[in-house]
Amino acid sequence: MVIMALKNGSRSTAPFFVMTLLLLALNSRVSEAVNSEGKALQDFKLRLEDPVGALSNWNDSDITPCKWNGIVCNNTTKVVTLISLPFFNLTGVLSPQLANLKHLERLSLQNNNICGSMPPAFSNFTSLRVLNLRNNSITGSIPESFGKLKNLRILDMANNKLEGSIPESFSNLTSMYYLDLSNNQLSGRVPEGALLRFNISSYLGNADLCGLASVGLPSCSPPPVLAPSFGPSSPPVTRKPSLSLVQIVLLSVGLFLGFKFIIAVILIMRWVRKDNHIEINLGAGGKIVMFQGGANVPTSKEMLRALRLIRKQHIIGEGGFGVVYKLQVNEHPTLAVKKLKSCLESERSFENELDTLGTVKHRNLVKLKGFCSAPNVKLLIYDFLPGGNLDQLLHGEKDENVVIDWPIRYRIALGVARGLSYLHHGCDPRIIHGDVSSTNILLDTDFQPYLSDFGLAKLVNTTDTHVTVTVGGTFGYVAPEFAKSGKATEKVDVYSYGVILLELLSGRRAVDENMPDDYTNLAGWVRSLHSHGNAIDIVDKNLRDSVAGVELDLLLEVACHCISLNPQDRPQMNKVVETLEILTETGMTPSGTSVRTSRDTSDGSMRAHFKYPLVKLSSL
Ligand SMILES: Nc1ncnc2c1ncn2[C@@H]1O[C@H](COP(=O)(O)OP(=O)(O)O)[C@@H](O)[C@H]1O
Ligand SMILES: *[C@@H]1O[C@H](CO)[C@@H](O)[C@H](O)[C@H]1NC(C)=O
Ligand SMILES: *[C@@H]1O[C@H](CO)[C@@H](O)[C@H](O)[C@H]1NC(C)=O
Ligand SMILES: *[C@@H]1O[C@H](CO)[C@@H](O)[C@H](O)[C@H]1NC(C)=O
Ligand SMILES: *[C@@H]1O[C@H](CO)[C@@H](O)[C@H](O)[C@H]1NC(C)=O
Ligand SMILES: *[C@@H]1O[C@H](CO)[C@@H](O)[C@H](O)[C@H]1NC(C)=O
Ligand SMILES: *[C@@H]1O[C@H](CO)[C@@H](O)[C@H](O)[C@H]1NC(C)=O
Ligand SMILES: *[C@@H]1O[C@H](CO)[C@@H](O)[C@H](O)[C@H]1NC(C)=O
Ligand SMILES: *[C@@H]1O[C@H](CO)[C@@H](O)[C@H](O)[C@H]1NC(C)=O
Ligand SMILES: [Mg+2]
Repeated sequence: MVIMALKNGSRSTAPFFVMTLLLLALNSRVSEAVNSEGKALQDFKLRLEDPVGALSNWNDSDITPCKWNGIVCNNTTKVVTLISLPFFNLTGVLSPQLANLKHLERLSLQNNNICGSMPPAFSNFTSLRVLNLRNNSITGSIPESFGKLKNLRILDMANNKLEGSIPESFSNLTSMYYLDLSNNQLSGRVPEGALLRFNISSYLGNADLCGLASVGLPSCSPPPVLAPSFGPSSPPVTRKPSLSLVQIVLLSVGLFLGFKFIIAVILIMRWVRKDNHIEINLGAGGKIVMFQGGANVPTSKEMLRALRLIRKQHIIGEGGFGVVYKLQVNEHPTLAVKKLKSCLESERSFENELDTLGTVKHRNLVKLKGFCSAPNVKLLIYDFLPGGNLDQLLHGEKDENVVIDWPIRYRIALGVARGLSYLHHGCDPRIIHGDVSSTNILLDTDFQPYLSDFGLAKLVNTTDTHVTVTVGGTFGYVAPEFAKSGKATEKVDVYSYGVILLELLSGRRAVDENMPDDYTNLAGWVRSLHSHGNAIDIVDKNLRDSVAGVELDLLLEVACHCISLNPQDRPQMNKVVETLEILTETGMTPSGTSVRTSRDTSDGSMRAHFKYPLVKLSSL
C-alpha cells in the first residue's frame, strides 16, 4: 500500500512517505517490548507460581497487556483497569510494582494461595474500587496508608493471616460499603468513623478485636492509668476535718483493698501480655530434629522448652526468609533460630531438604544444627556467629578502632570462595546457594567468614527469593540471566561471588541508590570500567596506596571474570579458590602482610615477578 503510494505520489509527497515509513519502522522497534504497565504485570507474574498456566499468554512482546488473560483495559486509553485472577492456585507474593497501574479499579485475586504481606505501595491505587484478596495466605499488617484509598467500595480480605490492628486511617474510608476482615489474626481497637456501618460478620474470627460496642465487639480493656486520687496533688492533710473516725477507717480499708486490686490487675495484665508475646507458637503436631553431629547439642526437649521462651527482644535480624532470634539453651553454645516466612513447599520436601543440608559440614559454612517443622511454623536452627555480617562490617557504622585491613578482606574473599566451592563441588548432590550476598556472609570474632542460607533459595518458594532479590538489599548480586529466567545455576552463585569481591575491593555497596544512575549497580559500573581497561579505579584508595598492585590485580581480575554477562565466561568456584590460594602459596600471603610491609614493596617489580597468577587466570 505504502509502496504503491510512493510510486504514484508526486515528487513533493514522496519525502513525506519516506518519513512516515521511517517513523513507522522506528516506532515498531521502540514498542517491541511491552509498555510500563505490562512490565509491572510481568514482575507480578515473575513472583507467582502458576500451576494451571493462567498467566501463560502473558507474552512480553505484546505492546499492551490488554489481551492478557485476566486483564481488562479501558477501551480508549488502553490503561489497565481490572485484574481478575481468582481460583487459579497462584502461589507467591504480590509485586509492589503493581502500584504502577495508576488506573486500576478492581483487583480480584480471591481463592489463590498468595502469601507475604500487603505492599504499602498499593495505597497508590487511587482509583481502586474493589480489592478482593479473600481466602489467600496474606500475612503482616494492613498498611496504614490504605486509608488513602478514598474510592474503595469493596474490601474483602477474609480468610487470610493478617495480624496487627486495623489502621486508624480506615475511619476515613467513607465510600466503602462492603468490608470483610473475618478469619484473620487481627487485634486491637477497631477505629470508628466509616467502620461503624458494618456488622459483626465483618470482624468475626479474629484474634482480639475490640471497640465498636454498637457492632457487638467486646469493649477494649481500659488503659492502665488508674486512680488519679493517689497523686501527690491530694495529700491527706487537705481532707476536710469533718470525717468521722469510722469513715476514715472505712476509707482506709477501701483504699487498701482497692490498691491490692489494682496491683492484682496489673500483674494479671502483665502475665497475659507476656504470654501474648510468645514469638514462636509451635501449636500441636510439629516435630523438632536436632542433628547429633557434634557434642554439646541440646536435646529436642531442651529446645522445645527454650523456644517457648523466645521473645521480641531476642531478635537479631530480619531478612527475606524471615526473622532470626538468638537463643541460649542451658550451657550449650549459643544458637540462632530462623523462623521462615510462610509460603513453603510441602512439608515432606522441607524435611527431606533439611536432612540433606544437615549433613553439610565445612569450616566456611554456618552449621545447621537442626530444624523444627510444625504446621504453621518452620524453624531452622544454626550455630550463632557473633561477628555480625559482612554488610555490617563493610557498610555499617564504622568503629574507629577496627580497621578492616587487607588481610581481613582477603581472608573473607578466600573463605567465601572455599565455602561456595564446597557447595558446588564437594557435596553430593551439589548445592546451589542461590542467594549469595554480603548479608549472608557471617563472621566470627576472628573475621573468619561463614556462608549462611545455602540451599534455602530452593526450599522457600522461588517467588519468595525474588522478594529478597528486589525488595531486600540483594538486588545487585543477581546475575542478569537469573533475573530473567529465575533458574538458579552454579554460575549464578559465581556472579554473586564476583560482586562480593568487588565490595571487598571497593568498600562500596552492591547497589547504592545515592549514586548517579550509571553507578548504582556496582557490577555494571565495574564492567564498563573494565571494558576500558581501568577497573582498578574502583578499588578503595586506601588499598591502592597500601597493597601490592599484584594482589589487587589478581582479585580484581577474578571479580571481573565472575561478573561476566555470559555465564559460560565465568570461572568455576574451585578454580577461583585455586587462583586466590596462589597468593598464600607464593609466600605473598596477605594474612601476614601488614599495611606497612605491602607499602614497602616496590610496585613495579612485584607486578613483573607475579605475572604467573594473571596468566593462569586468563586460562580459567
Ligand atoms: N547464625 C547466625 N548467627 C548470627 N547472626 C545471624 C545468624 N543468621 C542470621 N543472622 C543475622 O540475622 C540477619 C537476618 O538474617 P536472614 O534472615 O538470613 O536475612 P538476610 O540474610 O537477608 O540479612 C542477618 O543479616 C544476620 O545479621
Ligand atoms: C510472543 O509473541 C511473539 C510474537 O507475537 C511470538 O513470536 C512468541 O513466540 C510469543 N511467545 C510466547 C511465549 O508465546
Ligand atoms: C476510559 O477512559 C476515559 C478517559 O479517562 C473515560 O472517559 C472513559 O469513561 C473510560 N471508559 C471506560 C469504559 O471506563
Ligand atoms: C471494549 O472493546 C471490546 C472489543 O473491542 C468490546 O467487546 C467491549 O464491549 C468494549 N467495552 C466497552 C465497555 O466499551
Ligand atoms: C487447585 O488445587 C486444588 C488442590 O490442590 C485442586 O483440587 C484444584 O483443582 C486446583 N485448581 C485449579 C484451577 O487447578
Ligand atoms: C506512590 O506514590 C508516591 C507519591 O505519589 C510516589 O513517591 C511513589 O513512588 C509511588 N510508588 C509507586 C510504587 O508507584
Ligand atoms: C480457599 O482456596 C483454596 C485454594 O484455592 C480452596 O481449596 C479452598 O476450598 C478455599 N476455601 C474457601 C473457604 O473458599
Ligand atoms: C482522615 O483524612 C483527613 C483529611 O484527609 C486527615 O486529616 C486525617 O488525618 C485522616 N485521618 C486518619 C485517621 O488518617
Ligand atoms: C451483616 O450485614 C450483611 C449485609 O450488610 C448481612 O448479609 C448479614 O446477614 C449481617 N450479619 C449479621 C450477623 O447481622
Ligand atoms: Mg541470611
